[in-house]
Amino acid sequence: MSNDSVNAPAAPDTSEAKGQGQAMWGGRFSAKPDELMQAINVSIGFDKRLAAQDLAGSRAHAAMLRKQGVISSEDEALIQQGLETVAQEMAAGTFPYRDEFEDIHMNVEARLRELIGPTAGRLHTARSRNDQVAVDFRLWVRGACDRTVEQLKTLQRALVAQAEAHADTLMPGFTHLQPAQPVTFGHHMMAYVEMFGRDASRFADARARMNESPLGAAALAGSPFPIDRHATAKALGFDRPTANSLDSVSSRDFALEALAAAAICATHLSRLAEEIVVWMTPQFGFIKLSDAFTTGSSIMPQKKNPDAAELVRAKAGRLLASFTQLAVVMKGLPLAYSKDMQEDKVPTFEAFDALELSLAAMAGMVRDFAPQPERMAAAAGAGFSTATDLADWLVRNLDMPFRDAHHVTGAAVKRAEALGCDLADLSLDELKALEPRINEGVYQVLTPAASAASRTSYGGTAPDQVRAQVARWKEILQ
Ligand code: ARG
Repeated sequence: MSNDSVNAPAAPDTSEAKGQGQAMWGGRFSAKPDELMQAINVSIGFDKRLAAQDLAGSRAHAAMLRKQGVISSEDEALIQQGLETVAQEMAAGTFPYRDEFEDIHMNVEARLRELIGPTAGRLHTARSRNDQVAVDFRLWVRGACDRTVEQLKTLQRALVAQAEAHADTLMPGFTHLQPAQPVTFGHHMMAYVEMFGRDASRFADARARMNESPLGAAALAGSPFPIDRHATAKALGFDRPTANSLDSVSSRDFALEALAAAAICATHLSRLAEEIVVWMTPQFGFIKLSDAFTTGSSIMPQKKNPDAAELVRAKAGRLLASFTQLAVVMKGLPLAYSKDMQEDKVPTFEAFDALELSLAAMAGMVRDFAPQPERMAAAAGAGFSTATDLADWLVRNLDMPFRDAHHVTGAAVKRAEALGCDLADLSLDELKALEPRINEGVYQVLTPAASAASRTSYGGTAPDQVRAQVARWKEILQ
């Protein structure tokens, strides 16, 4: 659209809304609202973040009204020009957001009226702020879901790269944070790739359900004008219009679903964050984070703190709170719109802001950290982590029932503990004292490398299995 509208002389303002604090709905009111009424009512401070979506909705609505013969071509052209000017003002940072116009919808309309005169008032034909905010918010949440999926893919790519580089790097696998069985660092990385993959699919599922347009539901009952809801739905990238006008203006489960997906994703991020914190300790020393993702202490010169990981771990609280906040707002609300629903935005914006930052920081940390293979390998053999392998060897080679093998292995662990050595360091005589049929062959399964390599079942930690999963995900993520 041309720039003309920027310089076009503003038509005289003949409406009652002159920017003097008289509300759009002032017709039946003779007194101005109390200051406290304004203070609790005003939402422009936060819903200005819906500006782009509001303009898109208005443009689609105006085009549809003209096509349907509800407004003239001249009026539509004037409205579109005015909206373009508004968009330019917003981009330039000169748009006057004003509290007296309460929310983004009325701020845009008020400015439009200043720019093009009373024709601005025709834009609101067959529309209410109730369907307007519903469409704006859906568009915003949809965009947030799409951006999150992209960020998840970026994080997954970083994890896959670490996994590929460390498909053979041994580390202890834990249960109860006690050494359990040796795994590879690549396998551990790929566990998070799976988690974040499910997170991405949750956002995609939520998107598919939310992608219906509420525009044209008007206040709550639909419109008597010959509007084309399918056309506005299509123009805004929705799959179809919503099918019930009451539901259209009163539902926020699309946001709840997105927040639930966000909260689950944040719990996954917090788990990886926790592992980074633990792995970073001198006691573990499994990874090193560079100066880029650590901070120092103002008093203890030796410190290198994983603050970013700690903050990602903590932000899960914010995300879970956001879901709870909106769920509590929606609980028990009668149909259709209630002003309570204005409180849907802050928790949603806050949640996605926190998630965006967390995902970016986590991807940064995963790219940044340097695994320490020697430290991990040393730990991989500690804690009798190949005990299960010994039991499995007894089952396979001596045809022992697993429960008996478990018992013999337990005795071997006890003996090694008493001697202060690893299972692989027990002499054959020591082992034979526990089970006379044990032979030299047993030593082949008692090293962490042999243990990990033997776990070739689908999805197991054997390096070849890890590499197969790396290849599968590289294909998915390209
Ligand atoms: N600012 C309002 C919101 O966010 C817009 C809808 C207002 N509708 C109304 N009937 N007062 O929900």
